[in-house]
Amino acid sequence: MFERLTPTDPDAILALMQAFQADPRPGKVDLGIGVWRDADGRTPVFSAVKRAEKRIWKRQETKTYVSFRGDAAFHEAVSNLLLGPATDGQWRAASATTGGTSAVQTALTLARAAHPDLRVWIPAETWPNHWVLARSLGLETRSFAYIDPDTQEIDRAGLLRDLDRAQAGDVVLLHACCHNPTGADPDAELQAAIVASLARTGAVPVIDCAYLGFGATPEEDSAFLRRLSTLPEVLIAFSGSKSFGLYRERVGLCLALADGPQARDVVENHLTRINRVTYSFPPDHGARTVTEILGDQTLRTEWQDELGSIRDAITTHRARLSEALRMRLNTDRFDRLTRQKGMFAMLPLGEARVAELRNAHGIYIVGAGRINMAGVTEETCATVADALATVLR
Ligand code: LMR
Repeated sequence: MFERLTPTDPDAILALMQAFQADPRPGKVDLGIGVWRDADGRTPVFSAVKRAEKRIWKRQETKTYVSFRGDAAFHEAVSNLLLGPATDGQWRAASATTGGTSAVQTALTLARAAHPDLRVWIPAETWPNHWVLARSLGLETRSFAYIDPDTQEIDRAGLLRDLDRAQAGDVVLLHACCHNPTGADPDAELQAAIVASLARTGAVPVIDCAYLGFGATPEEDSAFLRRLSTLPEVLIAFSGSKSFGLYRERVGLCLALADGPQARDVVENHLTRINRVTYSFPPDHGARTVTEILGDQTLRTEWQDELGSIRDAITTHRARLSEALRMRLNTDRFDRLTRQKGMFAMLPLGEARVAELRNAHGIYIVGAGRINMAGVTEETCATVADALATVLR
């Protein structure tokens, strides 16, 4: 049987992480996988997480199964974090998943159950795994314009032109905040125009929310989600990996807004089935930790403060790199780095320069130019900026 298998394409982000680990050069710089690292290159456990885990450890008397869709208290805590308490007439159905990837997969699987021939509209610039996930489910994919290559800002006209081509029964993949890989998020005006386009076409948004709190406070970062949640049907895929630093615990939630109580019930039924035929029961420990943090004012404040410190560091890294490139290349082209949001930014490199940066300078960058700002520290910034200036000149 197995001789019939041909290898799949390697995952570019994971392959880069492995190549970085195997590189013996002492001055190498990791601007790759989307994991937060402090100035010492560590990804510490949030202290709010440690304290929540301690409380759970003291209190927990059983590890028996919870339910196919996970703990209802977790559903409620995360839905309220993202959208605020449910308003009258809003019908929420949720399912805990194994991290954000599985939340996206669950959302697409649910949409496919409703429309087997559905098309998935994906931003031309996106997390590469979005394409892989949609295609592995056998779904037809279409791309919509996102970034203007000249300015590296959002191509507003192109994006709206393409979204207007979506139809009822299609889904449109959007990023809640801190767009991966560009860091370019729609402003309030464009958010409203996207919502209006979806209301016109009847296409349903699938919103990937993996970096809540990395661009602004969690509340501010959920503004686009809240606007989109005025539509009759919405799918949200939340990841707790980055926002709670719970990467390996696999914390995720697929949240659906349905158009009425009967639709909500049938969505819950499908979410239950989807989990049952994949992992039966989603992991509980990370989800319980998040629930504990969100449900306790002291822990919640502590978590928000820790997230705030990460955000402040990212802002500093962005400003530092923008200034260093301005000095070296005598251009204001990189001022946008200070306006864009989150862990990532795209630099106009292309694959050949990315390879040169890795081979000649030991600097690891994803794809055609995505950098993780976490790696641009006080210590590495000059090295990174010198190398970028060399290849960009
Ligand atoms: C990334 O984009 O680097 C992260 O979301 C990690 C991943 O799973 O690819």
